[in-house]
Amino acid sequence: MQEIITRAVPTGVWIVTVRAGDKINGMTAAWATQVSFKPRLVAVSIAPPRYTHGLIKESGYYCLNLLSEGQKDLANLFGFKSGRKVDKFKGLKYRNALKGSPVLEDAMAYVECEVKDIVTTGDHDLFVGEVIDGDILKPDETPMIFRWEDFFGKK
Ligand SMILES: Cc1cc2nc3c(=O)[nH]c(=O)nc-3n(C[C@H](O)[C@H](O)[C@H](O)COP(=O)(O)O)c2cc1C
Repeated sequence: MQEIITRAVPTGVWIVTVRAGDKINGMTAAWATQVSFKPRLVAVSIAPPRYTHGLIKESGYYCLNLLSEGQKDLANLFGFKSGRKVDKFKGLKYRNALKGSPVLEDAMAYVECEVKDIVTTGDHDLFVGEVIDGDILKPDETPMIFRWEDFFGKK
């Protein structure tokens, strides 16, 4: 049963970025989606041990950068190491969204959100944010679809 949810239900792949004071960070997330039309709310589920989790709580803002097909390298870069130990932005080009969250130059699209609610959902916390900025940067590209085995093997 567990495998149906984690392996067969399609989601996109995002880099969640954050700026808190002079610190920036980002992490890969597959568990993100729009959850309201008016107001426009987007939610992302982040486990408390992630460095990004604390930084978003500190900042009150986060940005979802959508990856397109063929950007697995970026998903790997941001998804397997912690910003506590490495600078994941080293050598990458980015600019600032409205409230300063990094927007990756190579992202297909982005939405910057202001945190409106944080709901504990099992072993993750769901950050619910209102969209305050965003754009589709590469409209001709196709979004990456998350497949468990592409990142975590077959077991
Ligand atoms: C494809 C992929 C999807 C992921 N999705 C999530 C997610 O939705 N939520 C989450 O908390 N972690 C997710 N992770 C794990 C984090 O990206 C990973 O733990 C990251 O190293 C945390 O970085 P940080 O400590 O700098 O915040 C995912 C990893 C990969 C490779």
